[in-house]
Amino acid sequence: MHVIAVANQKGGVGKTTTTINLAAALAWYGRRVLIIDFDPQGHLSESQGFDEDELTSPATLAGLLLGQFEGRLDTLIRQAADNLWIIPTNEDMFLLESQLYSKAGREYLLSRLLDALAPAFDVCLIDCPPSLTALTDAALVASQVRSEGPTSGRILVPVQSEHSTKRALRLLFKQIMTIRNALRVGLEVAGLVVNFYDNRKGKIVTTTYQALQSIEGVPVLATIGDRKEMREAWANQTSVDGYAPDSEAARWYRELACELFPELKNTEPAEVAS
Ligand SMILES: Nc1ncnc2c1ncn2[C@@H]1O[C@H](COP(=O)(O)OP(=O)(O)OP(=O)(O)O)[C@@H](O)[C@H]1O
Ligand SMILES: [Mg+2]
Repeated sequence: MHVIAVANQKGGVGKTTTTINLAAALAWYGRRVLIIDFDPQGHLSESQGFDEDELTSPATLAGLLLGQFEGRLDTLIRQAADNLWIIPTNEDMFLLESQLYSKAGREYLLSRLLDALAPAFDVCLIDCPPSLTALTDAALVASQVRSEGPTSGRILVPVQSEHSTKRALRLLFKQIMTIRNALRVGLEVAGLVVNFYDNRKGKIVTTTYQALQSIEGVPVLATIGDRKEMREAWANQTSVDGYAPDSEAARWYRELACELFPELKNTEPAEVAS
């Protein structure tokens, strides 16, 4: 199973939107996709219509990671669409964040869970919280590059083309280096997704965009404009592919899927194949 942590400690840049829409695009290509909502805010779970009141402790993702839930893993997994499943979050995740600090091997908890789930899915996307804390560290480690083992992965970074982005990226890359060195895990940034891009918004936007395009070893994999279909899809508890499959926005995410997995370029979409 290929794991992609969708991370940036900066808030509101489009992590959750990228996760949902990339997942839907991969599902469109017939890949079996699992999304982990790893953000205690629960925006992804909410946006896909999962009511956290239906989740009772300790039968939650947090309960599982803290070793308080010993039931079947599949009771935590909900189907969102064809080929698309979600492990939703609930408010227990806020507690997990603080309890993780006293837990040995906390950085590997999610990684171990994904190893167990690997046989059932092709791709797993992790929607990270807007922070560089224990949850994000665990998500980054879960997306480590491995030549052997049930999973291997990469990190995808949604950004906006604005002045403060460069500093935010420096901090994120520093954290990635710190984890890489401290835990000796292979971490690789697949690239950036520039979200909300509008070149009519002035020089800061365009010059920042050029700077983002010239970061060595970190390609811009997609440039996504501000589109009403994205907000409408969210409000309708679906992806842009589910809401407006013929839109430019849906096409952008299919192109992003192909950038990440070039073999998809020669793949028939799931509807045609089945
Ligand atoms: N390209 C886009 N066009 C239009 N609306 C968008 C676009 N990208 C994101 N949005 C909207 O912007 C809001 C913030 O996006 P999103 O929640 O994905 O950001 P985030 O990085 O996950 O935020 P947080 O840091 O709080 O987790 C959402 O309401 C989403 O629907
Ligand atoms: Mg989010």
